Amino acid sequence: MNNNIDHTDPAKDMNTERGNGGETHQRADGDTKAMTTQQGVVISDNQNSLKAGARGPALLEDFVLREKINHFDHERIPERIVHARGSAAHGYFELTESLEEFTTAKILTETGKQTPLFTRFSTVAGNKGSKDTPRDVRGFAVKIYTEEGNWDIVGNNMPIFFIQDAMKFPDLVHAVKPEPDRGFPQAASAHDTFWDFVSLSPETMHNVIWLMSDRALPRSLGMMEGFGIHSYRFINKDGKSTFVRFHWKPVLGVQSLIWDEAVKISGADPDYNRRDLFESINNGDYPEWEFGVQLFTEEEANEFPFDHLDATKLIPEEMVPVRIVGKMVLNRYPDNFFAETEQVAFCPSHLPPGIDFSNDPLLQGRLFSYLDTQLSRLGSPNFAQIPINAPKCPFANNQQDGHMQMHVPKTRVLYEPQSLDPTRPRESIKKGFESFHEQLDDGVKGRVRAESFADHYSQPRMFYLSQTPTEQAHIASAYAFELGKVDTAHVRTRMLGHLLNIDEDLAQRVAKALGMELPEAAEPAAPIQDMATSEKLQTIGLTPKTLKSRLIGILVAEGSKHSEIKKFEEAAKAAGARVKIVAPSKEVVLDDDTRIQADERVAGGPSVMFDAVVSIIMPEQAKKLAKDSATLDWFNDAYAHCKAIAYCGATDEFILSKLPIEKDAFVTPLAELDSFIENAKSRLWEREPKVRDLA
Ligand code: HEM
Repeated sequence: MNNNIDHTDPAKDMNTERGNGGETHQRADGDTKAMTTQQGVVISDNQNSLKAGARGPALLEDFVLREKINHFDHERIPERIVHARGSAAHGYFELTESLEEFTTAKILTETGKQTPLFTRFSTVAGNKGSKDTPRDVRGFAVKIYTEEGNWDIVGNNMPIFFIQDAMKFPDLVHAVKPEPDRGFPQAASAHDTFWDFVSLSPETMHNVIWLMSDRALPRSLGMMEGFGIHSYRFINKDGKSTFVRFHWKPVLGVQSLIWDEAVKISGADPDYNRRDLFESINNGDYPEWEFGVQLFTEEEANEFPFDHLDATKLIPEEMVPVRIVGKMVLNRYPDNFFAETEQVAFCPSHLPPGIDFSNDPLLQGRLFSYLDTQLSRLGSPNFAQIPINAPKCPFANNQQDGHMQMHVPKTRVLYEPQSLDPTRPRESIKKGFESFHEQLDDGVKGRVRAESFADHYSQPRMFYLSQTPTEQAHIASAYAFELGKVDTAHVRTRMLGHLLNIDEDLAQRVAKALGMELPEAAEPAAPIQDMATSEKLQTIGLTPKTLKSRLIGILVAEGSKHSEIKKFEEAAKAAGARVKIVAPSKEVVLDDDTRIQADERVAGGPSVMFDAVVSIIMPEQAKKLAKDSATLDWFNDAYAHCKAIAYCGATDEFILSKLPIEKDAFVTPLAELDSFIENAKSRLWEREPKVRDLA
């Protein structure tokens, strides 16, 4: 809350003059830097182009205008073909337990050292300017600038992927992206082509059910798990290999939005997750994750009831525990969005020695794709020289020339072997990257999918049966919502056939919500196994009860009690929350004549933007607000989204009592401050069936 609004305008003290036509000129003087062209020539007038007479034509010789417009005309570069919409932050990685037994990678053997990193989160399907809160997988890409070269863990917030072979990636992406004839829908899987493709590709069923779960609606970027997905290898000093899967576990737990909330947020604040990341970091609430590994041998893998080289399979933590060995903290927002977040280039093939790939055919295809796409996205093979991409350890090779070359090598010798320049780099067996000496079967060359990849339903079934009833209802409702947008009847029917193989109750709930008959179950390519359920796959129930990084909205108006507002603000902040003031106007005068500046006006700050809400208003204001639909939505939505609401007497008398809001355990008077603070840490899920018709 801002008590002393400063209305003084610093522009007055700047060396400001009015030009011939009334335009504003701010001139450099004293310590102010002079503006120059790219060539360093000082610019005398940044408001007017060079003309033949004040009302005459512009002159071609105006190099200042031409240079400025020319640069502007070329500001855009192609966006990423997938994961175009992203937000990122700088931070560090710190190892807490050495993995020396398994790998030689220094980043995983030297404990206690902070190594810089850059992490970019993204949605997958939408364009760069699309909303932050679609139902979608989230990219979770981490670039660690290790002293042995950059290590990129290019993962997602789900531990599995849609397809098993890179051959299918363009098809998957074409199916989910806007349909090519009509150019919509943007950032949405709820359309015919996506469901047509997935219903003909049973291997997608596991990732699809995760997509229908609350994991696809993260409350904030710091409240998502991250997964490297594929099995990689560690190689130790004796050349021994151990398989590994990488995990990032958020200290704040996994927290998600409700679908109705996500839909409304995309209108109210399309930058919801990005803004939250920016504000959290600026507030000192640094998002933090534990780094964990699942380690297993080839022999152990042979005993798994699935093939770990299949990226549509997760390894339940009950089967191979996640060993926590480090942490990641994000503590600095980028200085410039384009230079860093947009130009960063991740690639799964960026690994330091001691880590190696597995034969996962999806991973193998990815190793080609990223560098290839980045050449056209960033426009030159020298994009590795851009500061955000460049390693922070010494690097040297004989690559030369190319667009935008930044290095100026002072040598005759850019080849090897050579005998003319002893300062030039040479290969090193001792320190160099070495691939695992894997003994390959004498396989038959051919385009063939391993039979061990054929079980498409056991893991989606395990996932569904592992969820709490609330989460299961969300999943069933999500299928009903998405398939409700599918006009082609046979695609819906085909999907119901797959759901029958996952769980009959799920299939029935979805069919009922769609008003459809259940078809025959799809024919499975391999027997469906009943795997043990895994609690670790839940979100609700596993979330720690904390207000940290959550946001409380306090509705105030003219004459509201300042002391009461302060009380709530202080209690919320003491518990780790951030607070925003919402009011009918941008500035309001409170009961003690303090003029404060609201963070949001009611119409611009709907309750979907907050995790819990408080209303402190006087009777006259409450009467007025009771006629305002944005205010009524504010309360109705907070209630419908199962949030804690603290209300004053006037709010109750003139607003709440007129709305279908029951005084349950999470709707409390201002006097019960402590209960409100406790309730604000979570949602009252028991309220949900009363306010929403779930499948
Ligand atoms: C486990 C499966 C996959 C995961 C977890 C994954 C993850 C990601 C992530 C996180 C990004 C965004 C990186 C950033 O923030 O800049 C990305 C981008 C991309 N992915 Fe994947 N992806 C997967 C599969 C694939 C496959 C199979 C292909 C192609 C064969 C592919 C091609 C691409 C491309 C072309 C980009 C854009 C890269 C850029 O422009 O910098 N991905 N992927």
